[in-house]
Amino acid sequence: MRLHVADHPLVAHKLSVLRDEATPSPIFRLLVDELVTLLAYEATRHVRVEPQEVRTPVTTTTGVKLSDPSPIVIPILRAGLGMLDGMTRLLPTAEVGFLGLQRDESTFEAVTYANRLPDDLTGRQVFLLDPMLATGATLVASIDYVLQRGARDVTAVCLLAAPEGVQVVQDAVGDRADVQIVVAAVDERLNEKKYIVPGLGDAGDRLYGVV
Ligand code: URA
Repeated sequence: MRLHVADHPLVAHKLSVLRDEATPSPIFRLLVDELVTLLAYEATRHVRVEPQEVRTPVTTTTGVKLSDPSPIVIPILRAGLGMLDGMTRLLPTAEVGFLGLQRDESTFEAVTYANRLPDDLTGRQVFLLDPMLATGATLVASIDYVLQRGARDVTAVCLLAAPEGVQVVQDAVGDRADVQIVVAAVDERLNEKKYIVPGLGDAGDRLYGVV
């Protein structure tokens, strides 16, 4: 498992505004969208391409196009939905699937409540969108889910991670698959309620309100 922390002043600036408890939902959603587009640039560094001839106004040359099968982008419901547009802006031809996993607030285990994904992901490059890598339970369950269906490599795009969660994913995945995490920052720790500290609070609530 590889961890890539996007070290960039624009990423740090947008993240600081997201952390601010005074930032209202409309601005929060806009900033998540912008931030994910910056992370998507890093996350797609290894997207598979193949050569393609291009006729320019002057000559022909060899360019590239995204390889088939196209990548699949999977937001983890509900908060991952807020990351979808920012990701597909850079990968407009990607297919989009949905995975509904939430943590049980008493056991902190990941529970699946919805899925809309091809059964067969053989050879697919998968991008999982989950803003908060806290305990790692949701991400490990999602990674297992797509690997069991044949995904070839998996990139998780997250806004924030706790060191504990990164370790859990590392221990669960090890070197058995090509998995990378791209994140804007790794914070200090989890608190007793398994929230990331200093964090930004509940990402789903801040995106969509408390429902
Ligand atoms: N999920 C969130 O939305 N925030 C946290 O800090 C941890 C998990």
